Amino acid sequence: MHIVSTFGNVDFAKNMMMNQSMKGVEVERKVFPDGEKYFRLLGDVSGKEVSVVGNTNNDSEILEFLFLLDAAKEDNPSKLTAVVPYFGYARQHTLYKKGEAISAKVLIKALSDYADNIVTVDIHDASSFKYSNKTCSDFSASGSIADYFRGRKIDLVMAPDDGAFLRAKEIAGTLGCKSGFMNKKRIDSTTVEYNMDHIDAADSNVLLVDDIISTGGTILRSMEIIRNSGAASVFVAATHGLFVNGVDSKISGLCNELVVTDTIKSAYSKINVSQKLSGFIAGD
Ligand code: R5P
Repeated sequence: MHIVSTFGNVDFAKNMMMNQSMKGVEVERKVFPDGEKYFRLLGDVSGKEVSVVGNTNNDSEILEFLFLLDAAKEDNPSKLTAVVPYFGYARQHTLYKKGEAISAKVLIKALSDYADNIVTVDIHDASSFKYSNKTCSDFSASGSIADYFRGRKIDLVMAPDDGAFLRAKEIAGTLGCKSGFMNKKRIDSTTVEYNMDHIDAADSNVLLVDDIISTGGTILRSMEIIRNSGAASVFVAATHGLFVNGVDSKISGLCNELVVTDTIKSAYSKINVSQKLSGFIAGD
């Protein structure tokens, strides 16, 4: 399997290449005087299985990702896979208001134009795959998150909402502890309150898990509720740490430990999914 990567995912791709069956393909990158970009694969991928790795949260990287997929496709590989560690724009996966663009659909369709199959990691909502005419699979980071917390005596795994409960349940299943999610209580047409009145977390070591930490609003609100429930300690884990406006330092200062995976590299990327993902793609 040959691996091509966008500039932003070079480290992730290098980790994938710890798998002996993966070989990197160098990319030549140039910027023309008018700002337009040029990409060229410096290896032959004709007749070979190729994975192009790229995230879709950064507009310039999206363009690079599509150009690299095009470059690979032009060389007639035997199989072309788009690997998306962090599939950005996934939260707009449906029409919420008339007139909106469905960003997840636009990106899935663009990737599907080139790739024979698409592999994501904990995509926000896998229903986005319905917009593709290719094989799509979502790799779960739950096993890696559970492995990281093995032996930490976690009593309860909490999700910030019912949508994330399956993830909390899976991780709790591996750790052999309880799981739960925050209750939503509508106060009036504009105010929603969250609580965990239905769960006894007193003196417990609680692990709070989510797919994405973006502005950190969801995690900070949930941490406060968990603390107020009398928990002894609060650990926070997410697959994708976007950490808008440096919210990571605020979160880490308020919990016992903050960790995320390496889908988006940060000081908190202590959970490695790149190597497990390469095994999944290589069919090990
Ligand atoms: C929401 O449905 C997601 O699972 C995350 O909880 C949310 O996107 C996190 O965003 P923020 O960090 O901005 O609250």
